[in-house]
Amino acid sequence: MNVEPLTPTIGATVHGVKLSDVANDDDLFREIHDLWMKHLVLFFRDQALTPEQHLALGERFGPLHVHPAAPYEGNPALMKIHADADSHRNNGDMWHSDVSADEEPPMATILQMHVLPSAGGDTLWSNMYAVFESLSETMQAELKQMEALHFLSYAGFYGDHEAQREAPKAVHPVVRTHPVTGRDALFVNSGFTRRIIGMSPGESSALLNMLFEQVREPIFQCRFKWKKHSVAIWDNRCTQHYALWDYYPETRSGLRVTVKGDRPYQGQP
Ligand code: SIN
Repeated sequence: MNVEPLTPTIGATVHGVKLSDVANDDDLFREIHDLWMKHLVLFFRDQALTPEQHLALGERFGPLHVHPAAPYEGNPALMKIHADADSHRNNGDMWHSDVSADEEPPMATILQMHVLPSAGGDTLWSNMYAVFESLSETMQAELKQMEALHFLSYAGFYGDHEAQREAPKAVHPVVRTHPVTGRDALFVNSGFTRRIIGMSPGESSALLNMLFEQVREPIFQCRFKWKKHSVAIWDNRCTQHYALWDYYPETRSGLRVTVKGDRPYQGQP
């Protein structure tokens, strides 16, 4: 196995691993998991996972999560990521962590791309430990006391596909403690976070806008150029991502498996 960091802050490409082996190899899974905790998002090239292998890989991390509203391929846990000339929107073209409006948001996402445009369609990730640690101690202490409302209505997002369940809504700490690393990470995002609890609308949007600006700082980010059968595995507890839609009217298509997570907490569970 050979590990090539994309940046010193976030992201690494792992060479010399067959992801289809990970589901049945405890040592390999532990090694990948340790690397994942260190780099937050891992990339693998030339994997060509079947849907069954993709689902089995997800299950190695934990029970699978089902998206509230997105179309899927056969199994509801196998979400379609697709944009083409008929699309009016693209999944994830704003900074977010996946379905953070769920009471127990998914901890991991495993995305494999199958069809790519001739250029573009990159995805960016930002490190939420680093964003939090970049703030002053005074701001960090204040944010650790706060909670925020997360909500998203998917009405009109997915054409005539019938939603799997009601639109998710939850209140979460603004800074969550990662259950594995014990580190604190910013947990508000422009895709799902609507307001800070107990603040006026003006105060809340001023504070959230300041935090969202930090997430957009390139120093905290990496950018991945997909090829056919590339796979990314990211940790939604300590990262946000942004899928660029710069390739219209070309097609970009893949499948995504997410893994259930726990209820976010600050300090102790
Ligand atoms: C998403 O899961 O938000 C989509 C990511 C991507 O298409 O790169």
